[in-house]
Amino acid sequence: MDRIVIRGGRQLNGTVRIESAKNAVLPILAACILSRGECLLHGIPPLHDVFTISQLLMRLGVAVRTERPGLLRIHTPDVIQTEAPYDLVRKMRASVLVMGPLLTRFGVAKVPLPGGCAIGNRPVDLHLKGFQSLGADIEIKHGFIQASAERLYGARIYLDYPSHTATENIMMAAVLAEGTTYIENAAEEPEIVDVANFLNSMGARITGAGTKVIRIEGVRELGGTEYACIPDRIEAGTYLVAAAISRGDVTLTNVITEHLKPVIAKLQEAGAEFEGRNGTIRVIARERLRSVDVKTLPYPGFPTDMQAQMMSLMCVTEGISIVTETVFENRFLHVEELKRMGADIRIEGPSAIVRGVERLYGAPVKATDLRAGASLVLAGLVAEGQTDIFGVGHVDRGYVNIVGKLQALGADISRVNT
Ligand code: EPZ
Repeated sequence: MDRIVIRGGRQLNGTVRIESAKNAVLPILAACILSRGECLLHGIPPLHDVFTISQLLMRLGVAVRTERPGLLRIHTPDVIQTEAPYDLVRKMRASVLVMGPLLTRFGVAKVPLPGGCAIGNRPVDLHLKGFQSLGADIEIKHGFIQASAERLYGARIYLDYPSHTATENIMMAAVLAEGTTYIENAAEEPEIVDVANFLNSMGARITGAGTKVIRIEGVRELGGTEYACIPDRIEAGTYLVAAAISRGDVTLTNVITEHLKPVIAKLQEAGAEFEGRNGTIRVIARERLRSVDVKTLPYPGFPTDMQAQMMSLMCVTEGISIVTETVFENRFLHVEELKRMGADIRIEGPSAIVRGVERLYGAPVKATDLRAGASLVLAGLVAEGQTDIFGVGHVDRGYVNIVGKLQALGADISRVNT
């Protein structure tokens, strides 16, 4: 079992290139099920979650060929399996994203109830209500969800909550429905715009993605395409915090600054300085930053996927920060681990009160989920002494070569196989 070993205290300096967005690549790979043609996808990051969904597609009968690292050629034949295997769905709840494409193209989709995970019970009721509104029958038994419909028909769907993947799943189901669908109170994340652009490149007719109302005019079929996904705003945000916490000077390449506005605004409020021009961002933190309050919200609010990383920074800033998590019900699992490193944090309901301390101390700690793992790496960068991070598999789900990238920026970090 691998662990990450960090000796803190190094300032990060240099340049790091950001990968394509995990949370755009996953739904776009699922969306390839909709195409009668070939899809050529560029810049696909070698993440564990990407490997898992590629395996899932192949188990369904979809041809997934790696032309060269990062370049996938995908073709879905006219007849495939429509039941997603439990062992893969259990590993990654984003597997539920194959439901919409399977249902609308093949008339049936059977997916194990995606389990909860460390950060919450993660229901999929909004996905299923959307499919029902489009005319699907939904049956849940023996731990499986089965959605079926001769044909789907356009509908006006109001989401109780702007769910990120529910918006994507319903949008994908609607592209081949008969008639026009409106998704209201839709999620507005940049990844949803990327999925819509991908679908439109195959011949779909979607407008309004990235706003509260998305309009999908059903078409008869979708063809092949060639596409490259947007950069990962969460990976980028993580490296911005790595530079800030180490009081370094780091330039990120392959970024879309617009997508990072909530994170940049918060780091500027804390005292970090930024310079940006076409596709790059430079962040400089010359002295100890100030504590600021953080409240997670659906996009364009501050992203929940950056909450743990921001909390690590607030552990060593000047003052008191109130970090409030409004999106998931249990996304403070990193708090106990940070306290083992000397952080001063008190949880009060949906908020964590973080009192900045002079320094953190290295300790053996455990990652419980993807972003919690990232937050422990960030804390290790600045802690006095050695930090050993266990549960590295969680980090590998969302970060390509985080050890190599941080080493290149000057961190004393390595990966040890125990
Ligand atoms: C997506 O998860 C992301 N995953 C998550 O990223 C991210 O944290 C989340 O959106 C919020 O931005 C992917 O895109 C693959 P939600 P998703 O549906 O779609 C409740 C990471 O670190 N809800 O917007 O599952 C839900 O319980 C991962 O990369 C329902 O009640 O998030 C949660 O409290 C972690 N019923 C809230 O909505 C539903 O049917 C937000 O969930 C769906 C969601």
